[in-house]
Amino acid sequence: MSVVELDRIASEYNNKIEGFQKIIHICTGTGCVSSGALKVFNRLRDAIDSEGLTEKVLVKKTGCHGLCERGPIVVFGNDEILYQTVGKRNVEDDVKLLIATIKDDQIAEKLLYRGDDKTKRYVSTHDIPFYSGQTRLVLALNGIIDPEIIEDYIVHGGYRALVKALSMHRDEIIEWIDKSGLRGKGGGGFPTGVKWRSCKTAEGSPRYVLANGDEGDPGAFMDRSLMEGNPHAILEGMIIGAYAIGSNQGYIYVRDEYPLAVERLSKAIGQAREYGFLGNDIFHSGFDFDIEIFRGGGAFVCGESTALMTSIEGQAGEPRAKYIHTVEKGLREKPTNLNNVETWASVPEIINKGWEWFSSIGTELSKGTKVFSLVGKVNNTGLVEVPMGMTLKEIIFGLGGGIQGGKKFKAVQTGGPSGGCIPEEYLEMPVDFDSLTKLGSMMGSGGMIVMDERSCMVDVARYFLKFLVEESCGKCTPCREGVRRMYEIVDRICSGNGGEGDIEHLEELARAIGLGSLCGLGQSAPNPVLSTLKFFKEEYRIHIEEKKCPAGVCKSLITLHINPEKCTGCMRCASECPVGCITGEKKQVHTIDQTTCIKCGNCYDVCHFDAVTIE
Ligand SMILES: Cc1cc2nc3c(=O)[nH]c(=O)nc-3n(C[C@H](O)[C@H](O)[C@H](O)COP(=O)(O)O)c2cc1C
Ligand code: SF4
Ligand code: SF4
Ligand code: SF4
Ligand code: FES
Repeated sequence: MSVVELDRIASEYNNKIEGFQKIIHICTGTGCVSSGALKVFNRLRDAIDSEGLTEKVLVKKTGCHGLCERGPIVVFGNDEILYQTVGKRNVEDDVKLLIATIKDDQIAEKLLYRGDDKTKRYVSTHDIPFYSGQTRLVLALNGIIDPEIIEDYIVHGGYRALVKALSMHRDEIIEWIDKSGLRGKGGGGFPTGVKWRSCKTAEGSPRYVLANGDEGDPGAFMDRSLMEGNPHAILEGMIIGAYAIGSNQGYIYVRDEYPLAVERLSKAIGQAREYGFLGNDIFHSGFDFDIEIFRGGGAFVCGESTALMTSIEGQAGEPRAKYIHTVEKGLREKPTNLNNVETWASVPEIINKGWEWFSSIGTELSKGTKVFSLVGKVNNTGLVEVPMGMTLKEIIFGLGGGIQGGKKFKAVQTGGPSGGCIPEEYLEMPVDFDSLTKLGSMMGSGGMIVMDERSCMVDVARYFLKFLVEESCGKCTPCREGVRRMYEIVDRICSGNGGEGDIEHLEELARAIGLGSLCGLGQSAPNPVLSTLKFFKEEYRIHIEEKKCPAGVCKSLITLHINPEKCTGCMRCASECPVGCITGEKKQVHTIDQTTCIKCGNCYDVCHFDAVTIE
């Protein structure tokens, strides 16, 4: 295979689609599929057939566009028109609107994206602040190509980096990756070139290359969207890496809860084999390489490198001590290079455009971009890719459109269960590997959970501790017993039973667990508690000493009341109360029956007159 042959494949595919006057992209990522995208796709295709437009309009299935919360997303042409929530209310009506756009270029106002003030409507993707502030390298083709059609990837430049890499010396490829400054996107930010070189020079054979698509952090979906939306970029990166390292066998570890990712990756592997991008004597280079998918059972700890390898070996996914690095003795005791799927997907563009190009993006020590799943109390939740060094404020208030309901920002949690909470005073901080670590958090694989004034930081710490208690594999005592003890203390504090010495005890346990745990899960488990103690200690003190939850979240510490001075008797709270404990006539002051109130906070959230108070 040569560039000329790739050009031929691309031009054959282009010939097939050049007769179409319009191309419509329908997002069929997991988020949009669960909001009904396939129904929209099928109905639109039927309608196009009935209108006699089959030869003129191509409807493509794509991966995630990032705005999952507003799905199903439909995009016309080259991002000219973006429609959101298509078919959410009525598929037939919305398909009629799509047909009107196709036939008469009529813009369907009601399907357009609306700004945060709910008045301004945006037509083109490029104008929407959520997109215009992003730098999409890894996600560049998500939303454009059909992930199930390899030719579509080739048309957009796919597999050219592989052809180029096979003409380069293996050491030169590693040098490029080194000089590009690419660092692992799976959590630790380890320099990728250094890892590749260590694996290449390690004694032993065969060598393995692995892709980590386990993604166990709560709320994170970056890796899933990439695997579903552009599987060939991951494969191409892995083939290049395997060639450079000298490996003939690769595995992609995907959690079982990601069936669509598994399906698309499997199809992509099959197509790559058919074209000879995988298999024996790839492009007559004498280089053999193949990839298998391994489905993990969904345990968070299986994302850890040694647990992942143990799991592929067919044993229980438990970490093992890393006295010897996995690049020397990893899978089946052989030299193994593990990278996150986003790291692998970054490789082809570095080879295509050069290391200088990649290293010109980002900060001095964190190069390139990072994909984040921006979730929580932010207006625009979804997937964003930003250059390293963009500030938290730019991400949360620029791309994310600020805090829902005009509430006050309180903190952002980054790095998942191993990360920490960052308060308002650090909003101007540039996001890169090192600055997040300095604040006691971490980049992690890219989860970013935004919290507002109604989030209790002690409760947040409790949430992550509970998650880690459930996910600890139990192999070593500091993690198995220590994290549970931390959870019990924080739970006691949230229940109003905290006492003197609890904070000191938490700090002592955190130190011991951090030092004594075998793997990264235990070593970083205290981070959510330590970071909330560092920045929100007063909140812990109020819980313990005053038996109050200032954010109004911890149920044992709050009571909800209706202020008769402010209540207008609009009845909204009564209709939203799940246990029917609010009484009152229309236009009369309402009251809460404290004996049956379950403190869900619905009344507080829905009252437009600030009449509900939490004490
Ligand atoms: C408990 C735990 C869970 C992890 N989960 C993931 C994961 O889901 N995906 C991932 O890429 N890395 C995960 N990691 C990090 C991996 O161990 C490893 O560092 C990473 O896959 C290496 O790839 P990179 O250098 O490209 O970041 C996890 C680490 C720990 C300690
Ligand atoms: S630190 Fe926790 S998850 Fe890691 S090996 Fe020990 S018990 Fe298992
Ligand atoms: S929603 Fe507010 S104003 Fe309306 S009845 Fe309830 S407390 Fe009163
Ligand atoms: S907090 Fe929940 S249960 Fe209690 S009164 Fe309000 S809506 Fe009803
Ligand atoms: S799944 Fe459709 S925008 Fe994310």
